[in-house]
Amino acid sequence: MRLSDEQIAQYHRDGFLVFPELFSPDEVVAMKRELDRLEAIDTDHVVRERDSGSAKTLYRVHEADGPTASPPFQAAGRSPRLLQPAQQLLADPELYIYHTKCNRKAAIDGSIWQWHQDYGTWKHDGTPQPTLTTAMVMLDEATEANGCLYFIPGSHRLGLLDAELDDKTTSYKLWVLPKDRLIDIMEQSPEPVAIAGKPGTVAFFHPTILHGSGHNMSRHDRWQIYYVYNTVANRPSDVANPRPDYVRSTNWAPLRVGGNDILAGQPAAVC
Ligand code: SIN
Ligand code: MN
Repeated sequence: MRLSDEQIAQYHRDGFLVFPELFSPDEVVAMKRELDRLEAIDTDHVVRERDSGSAKTLYRVHEADGPTASPPFQAAGRSPRLLQPAQQLLADPELYIYHTKCNRKAAIDGSIWQWHQDYGTWKHDGTPQPTLTTAMVMLDEATEANGCLYFIPGSHRLGLLDAELDDKTTSYKLWVLPKDRLIDIMEQSPEPVAIAGKPGTVAFFHPTILHGSGHNMSRHDRWQIYYVYNTVANRPSDVANPRPDYVRSTNWAPLRVGGNDILAGQPAAVC
């Protein structure tokens, strides 16, 4: 899939681009089946809720090996629908996947992700520059009620902002912006945009765009998968105590664009 010059300019202006229903209902069904299968695996690549034990995040579903290897998710990450736009947005054909994560925001309980910039964490991984892009794929309909993402348009152009490590608000630590600074930026920016859409919708977004998501007030779980692409030239430098490979991949081999049929080799759906 080739982006037009206008789309590339829009991404650089706003920090994100949305493609409604880029993956078909059949493809989404197959990916959801994979979530069910992967969730049952006992591995540190699956992060679980303390109380219920249900999966909150599944990592590293994009490789051919490892406990959470998944053929359709692996194929999607190399498909022309995701990899080619990522190459265009980063103006570099040599990309690898920094990580993949499938996030569940559980019905009723799933909680907030405060306003943050992803590169705030990746900088601490030793990643020299914010030359990454994320392709987020909705695996359920994302709505304002079930905790869809929000972006502050153009905020990526502020670069990396001073952040504080918040390990209190939720069970996951995040580098978040102090409230005063956030309000100051919001006063000077367009209103935050809700990234709502049907299953299969894809949003590409910049690593320094300010984004967050709210509590899931609905009775439906909300799953999304995030493919983070980095340029091979921008691979992280050595740091003390690096995060595990499933969040800071050391497979820097450049990806080759694969086929569009991400279900090739998959068993047919049982009705
Ligand atoms: C994130 O910002 O990394 C995840 C937010 C979400 O899944 O709602
Ligand atoms: Mn984020």
